[in-house]
Amino acid sequence: MTSPKATDDKWWQEAVIYQIYPRSFFDSNGDGEGDLPGIMQKLQYVADLGVDAIWLSPFFTSPNKDGGYDVANPRDVDPRFGNLADAKLMINKAHDLGLKVLVDIVPNHFSAEHEWFKAALVAAPGSKERARFHFHEGKDDRTPPNNWISLFGGPAWTQVADGQYYLHLFDSSQPDLNWENPEVDEDFKETISFWVKMGVDGFRIDVAHGLVKENIRSDHHDPQGLSDALRIDVDMEIEKRESLLASVPFFDRAGVHEIYRSWRKHFDSFDKPIMAVAEAWVHPPVNGVAYVRPDELHQIFNFDLLIAPFEAKTLYRLINSTLEMFKDIDAYPTWAISNHDSPRVSSRLGAEEARALALFLFGLPGSSYIYNGQELGLPDAELADSDRQDPSFIRTNGETKGRDGARVPMPWSGQETPFGFTSGKPWLPLPATWLDLTVESQINDEQGSLFLYRSALAQRAKLFRGARDFTWDTSRIEEGILGFSRGGIQVYLNSGNKSVALPASELILASSGSHRILNSEFELKQGRAIWFMQ
Ligand code: NOJ
Repeated sequence: MTSPKATDDKWWQEAVIYQIYPRSFFDSNGDGEGDLPGIMQKLQYVADLGVDAIWLSPFFTSPNKDGGYDVANPRDVDPRFGNLADAKLMINKAHDLGLKVLVDIVPNHFSAEHEWFKAALVAAPGSKERARFHFHEGKDDRTPPNNWISLFGGPAWTQVADGQYYLHLFDSSQPDLNWENPEVDEDFKETISFWVKMGVDGFRIDVAHGLVKENIRSDHHDPQGLSDALRIDVDMEIEKRESLLASVPFFDRAGVHEIYRSWRKHFDSFDKPIMAVAEAWVHPPVNGVAYVRPDELHQIFNFDLLIAPFEAKTLYRLINSTLEMFKDIDAYPTWAISNHDSPRVSSRLGAEEARALALFLFGLPGSSYIYNGQELGLPDAELADSDRQDPSFIRTNGETKGRDGARVPMPWSGQETPFGFTSGKPWLPLPATWLDLTVESQINDEQGSLFLYRSALAQRAKLFRGARDFTWDTSRIEEGILGFSRGGIQVYLNSGNKSVALPASELILASSGSHRILNSEFELKQGRAIWFMQ
């Protein structure tokens, strides 16, 4: 069922990329956490989905204070996941199955366990060891250099024994690196070369817009407002949010582009195409286009749809503005409706709606990202507070529930939790209610989510890849119907509150639920999407 793979040099432009959260994918050794040999065992399943590439969230040496985004050695594998030989085998196996491999790179911060930070802690203020991070004197003995708030809550500064403070935009165990120091850039280029030699095809750049900080010794006029504006779980008037986000002193500063220009030269120095996708939530969104200029990165995530309602008018506005932004440039958009940082789309919009939206998006120009388990229609799991591990839960004393609900392991098979994920105790419990959502339960179920993903992706490349034409049909948007035609295929979504009739088609290629064909029309029910030919 695998779809034809892109063979050209720019394979990523219209690729479907499957995000694997290694800790939650498949546990091969019974310790309750997923690992690289486990991923390897399940790669055939991934290839059969019809995706073009995998992206793995971090599996590097890490004390795991932030799900591995606290990297203590970026050029080694954490023993919980296996070792470098396992990584090599896994990458080779993926390639044998026709899958490209992306890994995460985390340049905004290291773990406090990284040897550089340990050396900085024992070195004197003003030393070259401290110059790799942002160490500063406080305003006085007890007041940090500025009033910034960490994205995980609490102050963005922590004081060390001699009285200096270091900056951490995230957890205190994630000290921010100082990108004005050329040693930092040299070290990251070495990491990039290391993984390219291991065989990877590209990188997902964590907090790509955060590397350059401005006015680091000045207070922000509204630190709490800014902190709220940066959190998707906090409601705020749109104008207020936009004006606060325009004033972030640590995101999307002009200097980051110099870094990526220099990285691009490095990517282009290898003997195969190496791509990079920026995780950069920038404001206004049009600023994102700068990251994919021809001499910078290859993709930037578009996060709009992670928070958008299932509502035709809003979807049209967001998707259209992205398509417009990318119209005149040599880069393609990306689409994502779930990832390891956001509530799962089935919980946010409803199971049917989540499927319909995925089907609709798979027809669009650009690249689609799928977060593992999304294809099964998994919802967020309900967790007891005692199970939660996210630093944002811990740093806010439970006020923010955090992201663990979307990180519960994959249910593979069997009748009882943990559904084949591990022979041990899973690091987060899988709900017993996932019985009907396992891969085994869904694999032959023509009405299931997995079946829909497999059948849509098997056809996607043939039907849409490279199609240059794109025409919206917004004629019935007031009723909640949004459609487009591309490559001779009609794609429609019904976000309204009743079934609608569409002109009959000889050929229904994919449908997110059953549909009724009458004489000259067929019915598209609410909460459904469809691909057909006329
Ligand atoms: C974004 C990652 O996706 C998230 O999981 C992590 O907590 C932050 N960056 C900090 O690295």
